[in-house]
Amino acid sequence: MHGKTVMVTGGTAGIGRETARGLALLGARVIIVGRNPDRAKDAAAALTAETGAEVTSLTADLARLDGLRGLASRFADEHDRLDVLVNNAGGMSPERRLTGDGVEFTFAVNVLAPYALTRLLLPRLRAADAARVVNLTGGLPDGTIDPANLQAEKRFLGWTFAHYNQAKTALMAMSHRFAARLEQEEITVNVAYPGHAYTPGNRATPVRAFPYLFRPVAPLIRLVGPLLLSDRAKSARSSLYLASSPEVQGRTGLYVDARARPATWPDGALDPRAQDAVWDLCERLTALTA
Ligand SMILES: NC(=O)c1ccc[n+]([C@@H]2O[C@H](COP(=O)([O-])OP(=O)(O)OC[C@H]3O[C@@H](n4cnc5c(N)ncnc54)[C@H](OP(=O)(O)O)[C@@H]3O)[C@@H](O)[C@H]2O)c1
Repeated sequence: MHGKTVMVTGGTAGIGRETARGLALLGARVIIVGRNPDRAKDAAAALTAETGAEVTSLTADLARLDGLRGLASRFADEHDRLDVLVNNAGGMSPERRLTGDGVEFTFAVNVLAPYALTRLLLPRLRAADAARVVNLTGGLPDGTIDPANLQAEKRFLGWTFAHYNQAKTALMAMSHRFAARLEQEEITVNVAYPGHAYTPGNRATPVRAFPYLFRPVAPLIRLVGPLLLSDRAKSARSSLYLASSPEVQGRTGLYVDARARPATWPDGALDPRAQDAVWDLCERLTALTA
């Protein structure tokens, strides 16, 4: 990865930070993205000290379209090409809530942000030699996608993680469509399922976000979580593999599991009707057409 420029969203903590560390250890120049400038600068300095690589930071709220636009424009001011974009940041809300742009939050951070950032950074990805985009899925992305409920307009089943699961399936549908669209340009778009890790994201999950059956044991889950889910290096294995391995050079439309083995795409993500609906909504909400 020497000489390569890589951006990792959500690289200040959790799985993204592990991914950034792994890519820096391989010699890449890494730009991590978080919301808080001090936290982002501290994380970049710590990763530089630890790896000896050039790690810098940019700050943006990826749940906002102006945040995404500002991030892409600041990156473009400072760098003439982007070799790897890891759309790692995600999240979920226990309730249906809207972002400042009026977009449902879980859809905004897990689907719209990776779409918009990839789209906005396309000129810099095109300037690289065989650029890679890696998108992180999660939850149980094996259900169907309801095109009329992408933003939980009809119902929000947050307490079963159903909406988060659907958002991650929609991210996969969008990624699959993006891979096909960019195939001729030699930009690859692949999806990684990370391993589970005890991160700021799951530490912050309120009890009311757990499925009803699990709520009584939520405090116990929090207690054993750090013990059971402590190996953060494992959680970044799949994203590191897709971002850096020569085995996947030039290969697009791949989905790999937490051990970086090829996995079967969920039917819901391959459904052309669902792909159309997700793609159209991303285009409409961002006014960015690929
Ligand atoms: N953890 C798991 O067990 C697990 C399992 C399956 C899938 N996943 C998926 O893997 C990815 C990483 O998960 P994680 O648990 O490591 O995430 P996390 O703990 O929630 O992520 C923390 C990182 O994301 C950044 N971030 C969060 N929201 C942001 C926003 N709106 N704008 C900019 N940056 C934002 C944080 O930056 P700040 O410095 O600003 O806080 C921090 O760098 C996510 O897509 C998640 O859905 C996780």
